[in-house]
Amino acid sequence: MKKTLLILGAIVAVFAAQAKDYALSTPNSTLIISATEGKAPHFLYYGSRADVSDVKASGRALSEQEAYPAYGTNCIEPFASLVKQHDGDNAVKFVVEKVTESVDGTITTLSILLRDVAHPTLAVKLNYSAYSDLDIVKMNTEYINEGKKPIVLQKYMSAFLPIQSDNCVLLHLDGSAKNECNENIEPLTNGVRIISSQTGSRVAIFENASFMLGLNGRLDEANCPVVAGTLVWMGNFHFEFHNTLKSSAKTLFMGGINPAASDYTLAGKKSLVTPEMVFTYTTNGKGEASRNLHRWARKYQLLDGTKEREVLLNSWEGVHFDTTEANLEPMVKDFAALGGEMFVVDDGWFGPKYPRNDAKSSLGDWGVAKSKLPNGIRPLIDLTHKHGMKFGIWIEPEMVNVKSELYEKHPDWVLRHPDFEPTYGRGGGQLLLDLTNPQVQDFVFGVVDDLLTQNPDIYYIKWDNNMSMTNTQSLYLPKALQSNLQVDFTLALEKILKRIRAKYPQVVIQLCASGGARLNYGFMPYFQEMWTSDQTDAYHRILIQWGSMNFYPSNMLAAHVGSAYSKYTQRLVPIKFRFDVASMCRLGMEMVPSKLSDTERAYAKRAIAEYKTIRPVVQQGDLYRLISPYEGDKNFTSLMYVNESKERAVVFTYRHLIWRETQMPIIRLQGLKADAKYRIREVAPEFENQPVALNGKVVSGKMLMEEGIVIPELSKWYKSNVELNDMRATNDWRSVVLELTEVK
Ligand code: GLA
Repeated sequence: MKKTLLILGAIVAVFAAQAKDYALSTPNSTLIISATEGKAPHFLYYGSRADVSDVKASGRALSEQEAYPAYGTNCIEPFASLVKQHDGDNAVKFVVEKVTESVDGTITTLSILLRDVAHPTLAVKLNYSAYSDLDIVKMNTEYINEGKKPIVLQKYMSAFLPIQSDNCVLLHLDGSAKNECNENIEPLTNGVRIISSQTGSRVAIFENASFMLGLNGRLDEANCPVVAGTLVWMGNFHFEFHNTLKSSAKTLFMGGINPAASDYTLAGKKSLVTPEMVFTYTTNGKGEASRNLHRWARKYQLLDGTKEREVLLNSWEGVHFDTTEANLEPMVKDFAALGGEMFVVDDGWFGPKYPRNDAKSSLGDWGVAKSKLPNGIRPLIDLTHKHGMKFGIWIEPEMVNVKSELYEKHPDWVLRHPDFEPTYGRGGGQLLLDLTNPQVQDFVFGVVDDLLTQNPDIYYIKWDNNMSMTNTQSLYLPKALQSNLQVDFTLALEKILKRIRAKYPQVVIQLCASGGARLNYGFMPYFQEMWTSDQTDAYHRILIQWGSMNFYPSNMLAAHVGSAYSKYTQRLVPIKFRFDVASMCRLGMEMVPSKLSDTERAYAKRAIAEYKTIRPVVQQGDLYRLISPYEGDKNFTSLMYVNESKERAVVFTYRHLIWRETQMPIIRLQGLKADAKYRIREVAPEFENQPVALNGKVVSGKMLMEEGIVIPELSKWYKSNVELNDMRATNDWRSVVLELTEVK
């Protein structure tokens, strides 16, 4: 067999076309791949927009860099692919068989079909796509088993990207529940760096599948070359950064499905399409890298990415599991009086046999708990509508509690090892349903379908997931296929979500996983928004939202105003600061409104009304980060949004702790028109008739960007408890929001 192939290879070489360079360009970036039939494809370049001859003349084209190194014949390079044949042979030599180019709207795709010289029934397609309207390229691969016998994919990366840089600075996000998306910026030291996740269903709980690399030793907001990337995948991910080849000024990146414990058996005549890795390249710093990803997310990836989102009240922090009519009805009325647009009943409303009074029971039983809502949810929906608001409800459909009717009927529908006691999740009795089982897939679809069939006027669903994949065994999959579980579970989830969206394209669904533990681009086509974090302490939230917004746009990040003393930190934060923090994303509230004092209530009403006026800029504008809460003295944060026409902008500035006699920062604005004049207006000042001195001033964009603004009111302090009232509460935590409107 091998002999024939060698001959075939020779024929291919004889008839091979000349080496051809394929350049894919976006408005400001170019990616160049060289492919010659019968040879390994080579990666030449990813950088500023340029034509091939210029790249080659400058000496910046990489030479001899394989575009998709595989284990077996050239292992000095880190390998992106490892495949074991049914006979155990795991050496692969991919050569180009065919190159196709196609255009679909704004997307140009280059597909390079590779065939393994040693085992010609194995083919891999490398796909590279570029957008003509945004600086985004995408890569993925497709493994095709043309043979009759199964093969095992042991490493099957979506993307292999050589990055030309002499010295990289890495930005990545880590965290955990109530402390999501911490921004980490660190030198990418020599050697190999791996960032990955192994938590399955709560895939982003510790590490996020996104990164930025500042090239040439810097990662500035506006003035350095940056490559950013994110993996579009709802399951475990794996990134490798190889900084090992000193003489070549390059860092090798690869990203895709985490191969750990995921040897994937690919049956004969089947193929596996790997998830897309999305990249952006810019010479304008990490600010532009974020904006490129945000624009792409809103336009191409996030469901209803350009629609405005409502201001909602969620019942969770207010009443927890006490979702009784007596508790909820006043919340509906009080929130409507504040100008609210939607009411969402969180956990606690269900469990006909075992009412959901705590986290120990009822998941799986999605009928109403009559003990709390004797007349069902209909009266609550009607009351919400009567007050001019939309209605939403919480479910956690991928889960079951051992104490539930569902588990009594189907104890075999869960993920667990047949011989060992499973590890239980939240409340001591929670288990993850086995989505690889088609009956379970029907059940999960049915949870949403039944709810929406019975109540077609439900506008919004909060879809939660509070358990990682701790029991990594399926009772449905045969023993030989257990290591397909991570991938098949994720593909099954995608199948369910597609089915739901085919029938219910409009319903707004928020994704939650103990907060932001599922923050990933893979979920975006199915969910309009994500719950950023259960952490509603406004200071902590600044750090979380700042971190998340490196990659995720503001309109998909739900941010709620909690009560004055944070549920999770007991930090006392005044209402204005809390509103100003939540107003930088999709605003909501999470409290019992009747517990507000009269002055706080009046402020909340004003703040909600003001949010509605700035909402188009906040939710759809371009984000410019001005002062980082992670850098410098960490005592100020400032960021702004600018709308597309640059006629309107909103600037959020926060001073964290009070320090006497310290310097105030100069805030240099960005993204405005230098030659335009802007009128400044303070949005929702603490006291209606006492705006900051900048209020009403008209200033040029040039002045605002080059010389900046100072807000001395942020340093103001009050010396006695008498002056500190329920609005100010403490001298810490001051904020000012300014709206800029072009004066024509
Ligand atoms: C998770 C979510 C919360 C809330 C609770 C309900 O913790 O993150 O927002 O919905 O579940 O049990």
